[in-house]
Amino acid sequence: MPSSPPPADVAPAEAGPSVTIADERPDPAEVLDLFVAAGYATASDDASLRLLTTALAHSNVIVTARSEGRLVGVARGWSDFAAIAYLADIAVHGQWRHRGIGRALVEAFKETAGGEEIELLLLSRPEADGFYRRLGLEPAPEALQIRSR
Ligand SMILES: CC(C)(COP(=O)(O)OP(=O)(O)OC[C@H]1O[C@@H](n2cnc3c(N)ncnc32)[C@H](O)[C@@H]1OP(=O)(O)O)[C@@H](O)C(=O)NCCC(=O)NCCS
Repeated sequence: MPSSPPPADVAPAEAGPSVTIADERPDPAEVLDLFVAAGYATASDDASLRLLTTALAHSNVIVTARSEGRLVGVARGWSDFAAIAYLADIAVHGQWRHRGIGRALVEAFKETAGGEEIELLLLSRPEADGFYRRLGLEPAPEALQIRSR
């Protein structure tokens, strides 16, 4: 198990024309707007905003994609910065898909979470399965879960 300290912020990098990937804490309201625009969330009510605000506050890895300041993609989750990281959410605005932004977000997430030594786990929606496989993720048949009610 690696014992290196948590990494510094990921240096902003270009992911296609005018899109900047960065390690930052976005405003929960703009993340909820993005999730709705991306079809990743259905409701943009107060309860959804409260839930997302809490989830973001307790995430220790968050990376964003912005075009001219506008949030067009986000990935968030947790890392122990030693052995394992969990990617909880990733979404790219519908008008910005298939430009490499999702890939850049996963790569930035992993880098921020600790880099090559970190094992990355996530739960995939069926419609995102092909995306994750393109990125080299493999099914984990040993995974188990307790679903929320
Ligand atoms: C999944 C998602 C994040 C992908 O974002 P994106 O910016 O379009 O992805 P990229 O452009 O970086 O695609 C990377 C590669 O995956 C492929 N890919 C993208 N979406 C795909 C899909 N749904 N099925 C199969 N392959 C896909 C791309 O063609 C590309 O392949 P290439 O490297 O050979 O060119 C985006 O479609 C999204 O936000 N979906 C709605 C939210 C969601 O379902 N999130 C996942 C929750 S588990």
